[in-house]
Amino acid sequence: MDKRPTIIARMFDRIAPSYDLLNTILSFGMDKGWRKAVIRALSLSGSDRVLDIATGTGDMALLALSHMPCRVTGIDLSHQMLVRAAAKAARGNHGDHYTVLQGNALHMPFAGATFSKAMVGFGIRNMDNIPGLFAEVQRILKPAGRFAVLEFSVPEHIPFTWFYRLYMQRILPFVGGIVSGDFPAYRYLRDSVLGFPPPAVLEGMLEEHGLRMVASHALFFGIAHLYLAQKA
Ligand SMILES: C[S@@+](CC[C@H](N)C(=O)[O-])C[C@H]1O[C@@H](n2cnc3c(N)ncnc32)[C@H](O)[C@@H]1O
Repeated sequence: MDKRPTIIARMFDRIAPSYDLLNTILSFGMDKGWRKAVIRALSLSGSDRVLDIATGTGDMALLALSHMPCRVTGIDLSHQMLVRAAAKAARGNHGDHYTVLQGNALHMPFAGATFSKAMVGFGIRNMDNIPGLFAEVQRILKPAGRFAVLEFSVPEHIPFTWFYRLYMQRILPFVGGIVSGDFPAYRYLRDSVLGFPPPAVLEGMLEEHGLRMVASHALFFGIAHLYLAQKA
């Protein structure tokens, strides 16, 4: 899998118009509940400065703002995803509290200790250097700042895992390809999920970068996973 930032940015630029619709279809609407779980886990307050890494079309950032009027900065590689995020923010009257920025989360243009909270939803799977991201998060978080990661994982329990693998290998790339018109992007989604490290490995990486685990929860039989860490 080629995860160079230019390749990833181009792929998300291509699928941006159908991204939200396909998220709902392919996750059977469960993505919304998972994002809500992230926002609850972060216990936001009005004084928080929150960084939404790989903000995409802005769903997690806007959910945070509808929960608590704090300040959210979203960073993402893809211009087309950010155009949609900014439009949604304007429609929801959240434009004053949400700033979007095109850039690479592995080299962020923020001073150390800028943010009290950081989050990333379905973004780290697409990065070619996850330890590099965690080092960046450790740098930009204030002391005791919290970091939530939401990412897919592969369920391990039989027989659920059999159905899941059938769905991932056959149904998801087909439906994603038909609706978006971009079959390679949804084959990439399948491969990036099935090849992603399991929760125990991610937890170890977070700890190694000074991000102490506070909570770690499997969501819907382990299809997705929520990690909550705190800057040590
Ligand atoms: C699957 S989308 C997730 C979007 C959003 N967080 C959500 O929950 O729907 C992944 C996003 O990660 C972004 N991305 C991938 N690698 C990135 C990087 N190194 N820096 C910033 N954004 C990145 C992509 O451009 C894409 O918009």
